Amino acid sequence: MFNKRIKIKELLTADKVNFDATVMGWVRTFRNNQFIALNDGSTNNNLQIVTGLGVFDEKILKRLTTGACIKVTGEIIASLGKGQKVELKAATIEILGDSDAEKFPLQPKKHSLEFLREIAHLRFRTNTFSAIFRVRHSLAFAVHKFFNDKGFVYLHTPIITASDAEGAGEMFRVTTLPLDGSALKNEDGSINYKDDFFGRSTNLTVSGQLEGELAAMAFSDIYTFGPTFRAENSNTTRHLAEFWMIEPEVAFNDLEDNMNLAEEFIRYIIKYAMEQNKEDLEFLAQRLTEEENQKPLVERSEMSLLDKLNFVVNNDFERLTYTEAIEILRESNHNKKKKFNYLIDGWGVDLQSEHERYLVEKHFKKPVILTNYPKDIKSFYMRLNDDGKTVAAMDILAPGIGEIVGGSQREERLDKLTQRMSEMHIPEEELNWYLDTRRFGACPHAGFGLGFERLVQFVTGMGNIRDVIPFPRYPKSAEF
Ligand code: 4AD
Ligand code: MG
Repeated sequence: MFNKRIKIKELLTADKVNFDATVMGWVRTFRNNQFIALNDGSTNNNLQIVTGLGVFDEKILKRLTTGACIKVTGEIIASLGKGQKVELKAATIEILGDSDAEKFPLQPKKHSLEFLREIAHLRFRTNTFSAIFRVRHSLAFAVHKFFNDKGFVYLHTPIITASDAEGAGEMFRVTTLPLDGSALKNEDGSINYKDDFFGRSTNLTVSGQLEGELAAMAFSDIYTFGPTFRAENSNTTRHLAEFWMIEPEVAFNDLEDNMNLAEEFIRYIIKYAMEQNKEDLEFLAQRLTEEENQKPLVERSEMSLLDKLNFVVNNDFERLTYTEAIEILRESNHNKKKKFNYLIDGWGVDLQSEHERYLVEKHFKKPVILTNYPKDIKSFYMRLNDDGKTVAAMDILAPGIGEIVGGSQREERLDKLTQRMSEMHIPEEELNWYLDTRRFGACPHAGFGLGFERLVQFVTGMGNIRDVIPFPRYPKSAEF
């Protein structure tokens, strides 16, 4: 069998030596015409392979360039050199794929994250990105494990939809109609979708929530975990046009249950990654410390990455209402000294990220859950509170990231829901299927959406969301 290989991680952590092994991977470096550092992506630690002087043909040795893919067999022996416990004494070397050293863009040196973004197809082969994507994997796995262990049903909601779940109008159109102006038009000049693939206007989904609610009204507890799309023109370090979202939806939960679930969930998945990816997170923490040390003292964060993660795992989040938050912000020295770009002077305004960050990073210094927002700045499906002006919404804000979760208790009362829809100009005919859940056996229920990439950012300490998804999509960029 060709692929009778042992993964490098397994070899480096085994406590035995003097046995034969086959390894395959990519050459990171080849020095002194003797020592190959080989990596196969199972760990950032390379396996040292010793070729022995005069054992191999010069022709083969010349092809052991950075980036080349090789298969090596030989004996695993205790290493005499510093830096590794074991090494492989090569008996055979086979070049599986050459790599022209002159042209291979990744040199054994530090490259900037910006440069690596331009070669995202190769950046997996750097230590930073292999660590990030192994952590991302663990977090994704933990999402499923958490909900599976709790008896939730994983629901696959559609990617193509005809409804705007958030009512924010930030959707990408899906159509097979010609773009040259020849598509059929209505009398008023608008496009007639009769001939379009679905016979109606459709979009990429912004959220699986509405469909999730339908299933929660049968299974009680469901979650979605899939790609979502937003055509918002936000060129920030926290926005993507295509991102992954986890959306649990739970029958019989109220806002408080919802917050408890979200906190437990976030703690669980972070803890899972800390256990599974200790080395990778230590590596990323070190990277972040080096990056922070380049900054002026006042801008450096007080905690290291691992301290920050431990803190989140071991401490309750701060919970307060929107109204209380506005009071804190209005009375803050920051506001009085006009340091906010958007000054807070009254109730009802939407919070900007500078306000969220002030609350989380300066005032409370821990994750914060804000609840009961004014109804006018939130979506139509959120449950109206008895005061008639706020809704049972919750946003979780994380240090360095801002909003990481958005959720709410849902409006289960048909009359209140349809009234909100008409106030917000959402036609009932379009959401008749959604309203049916309120007609047939409605119950209190709640859910939330966690932006997966924002969570990966938080856990890996990466400053830019484009560096925690393999192939980021953002305005004017859909490379690869
Ligand atoms: O707050 P949002 O818009 O809430 C919803 O979509 C609800 N339907 C969720 C629910 O209740 N089931 O989005 C949820 C989260 C945000 O808190 C944020 O973490 C993330 O999704 N998010 C984005 N992440 C990356 N890029 C973007 N453009 C994002 N927009 C939202
Ligand atoms: Mg939100």
